[in-house]
Amino acid sequence: MSHDQQHPHASDLPATTVQLNHTAVYASDRHRSAEFIALILGLRVGAPFGPFLPVDLGNGVTLDYYEKRDEPIQSQHYAFLVPEAQFDAMVARLEAVGVTHYADPSHTEPGRINSWFGGHGAYFEDPDGHNMEIMTRPYVRP
Ligand SMILES: [Fe+2]
Repeated sequence: MSHDQQHPHASDLPATTVQLNHTAVYASDRHRSAEFIALILGLRVGAPFGPFLPVDLGNGVTLDYYEKRDEPIQSQHYAFLVPEAQFDAMVARLEAVGVTHYADPSHTEPGRINSWFGGHGAYFEDPDGHNMEIMTRPYVRP
């Protein structure tokens, strides 16, 4: 039996609304990492939920900070759509805590921001090296 016979094409399925609800963000110290991103973005850290320390985002997604101490943490990428009016304050908070921001995802342009898609954006590392992005305009895809 071929792959196609086992699995119908997505285009054959009825339209379904699926929303990302939560994801685990690995951290060597969940409090340090959750408090860092909450500080930079102007959010609150929620009460611990089992092994998770939640940070709720405005579109209903929860970042569940989860400690992984025994093995190296693989760097992931998290991009946050933020209000233009708060972008400069976020960059200022990065500078205040001594975290370098970059204009580009490869971190070759330190101390700079980008102006992609008519907005502003910047990249920075969280305490475990996750590549965080703040942006004021969503990417325009073809
Ligand atoms: Fe990105």
